[in-house]
Amino acid sequence: MLGMQELADRYGRVARDLRVSLTDRCNLRCTYCMPAEGLPWLPTEETLTDAEVVRLLRIAVEHLGVHTLRFTGGEPLLRKGLEGIIAAASRLRTADGAAPDLALTTNGLGLDKRLPGLIEAGLKRVNVSVDSLDPTTYARIARRDRLPEVLRSIQAVDDAGLRPLKINAVVMRGENEDDVLGLAGYALEHGYQLRFIEQMPLGPRHTWDRSRMVSAHEILDRLGARYTLTPAVQPRGAAPAALWNVAPDATQPGGAIGIIASVTAPFCADCDRTRITSDGQVRSCLFSQRETDLRALLRGGGSDEEIAEAWMGEHLIKPRGHGIDNDDFVQPERTMSAIGG
Ligand code: GTP
Ligand code: 5AD
Ligand code: SF4
Repeated sequence: MLGMQELADRYGRVARDLRVSLTDRCNLRCTYCMPAEGLPWLPTEETLTDAEVVRLLRIAVEHLGVHTLRFTGGEPLLRKGLEGIIAAASRLRTADGAAPDLALTTNGLGLDKRLPGLIEAGLKRVNVSVDSLDPTTYARIARRDRLPEVLRSIQAVDDAGLRPLKINAVVMRGENEDDVLGLAGYALEHGYQLRFIEQMPLGPRHTWDRSRMVSAHEILDRLGARYTLTPAVQPRGAAPAALWNVAPDATQPGGAIGIIASVTAPFCADCDRTRITSDGQVRSCLFSQRETDLRALLRGGGSDEEIAEAWMGEHLIKPRGHGIDNDDFVQPERTMSAIGG
């Protein structure tokens, strides 16, 4: 009988947070993520079915100690069965009898319409990506003119009372550097937790240049010109974002702003994440050069125990860190949209 085990690695870390990519497709073409023409999408038969996804979630939660499930893509709202997958996930129970924490990372397109069904299914938290509040800049980065729809969806999440409501913004040189203060003002006013993200080398090949990357330090300088910031004291745990408290002033409520400094201040030593791609491969790290094929086991009659063993085996050799600064760093084959962020 398969009891409760753990996804441990050689460096003493244990994964509790599973990021599940439900599709490699997206309805935007953000420059840092995808080429303008899109990518060769996975054929449907190579993508896990809803039942296969749910089986992996069950094994992770009931047998491998996972307590947080985050659904990503590509764009996870493009997955028709999302509500059903979330409903099934919300019926799972961790070893201490709790339902897993269920979250979604989305570009927000169409979220306003799907939100009631997603909440009914058990969704608890949403992170929405918005790199600019200027429609022209947004359309240049996303290569689609869709900002009003995204803002409508954020308002819908707000109205539905899901908290914390997190906004993700990747900061890029010459693209949206000047949007930092505008985004901060918008998030503070509405009580959203904005996180500025350093761009990672996971987009189209040869498009990332460390010397052009906007660093956490630069982002903080820009924020510091307008706001009084103090580092938040709460324990950060495995969270990618370092939080800063923003003091209120006469014109602006206070709040918290996060910086995800994956490149200049890696948080790999505390990483508690494991990943499943939409074609059923385990990736222990965003930057892994290898994967283990769980789909073959799912479709070849593998038992829960065999699947759990294979997952633990891949996770055991999770790299110590991303190694972006190493001379021998090689960008992974899969781009962000096919890994799930
Ligand atoms: P919360 O649980 O709400 O804090 O979510 P999150 O910040 O972990 O997830 P989200 O999907 O919103 O991702 C925000 C940014 O963090 C994206 O750019 C992700 O690629 C990045 N990120 C998430 N997990 C990792 C990770 O393990 N390593 C690195 N380097 N970046 C990560
Ligand atoms: N570097 C950093 N963050 C990225 N994201 C997508 N591509 C990159 C990249 N190359 C972010 C998206 C989204 C989250 C899933 O990952 O903006 O918020
Ligand atoms: Fe974890 Fe890899 Fe991200 Fe580092 S780069 S935090 S090890 S997933």
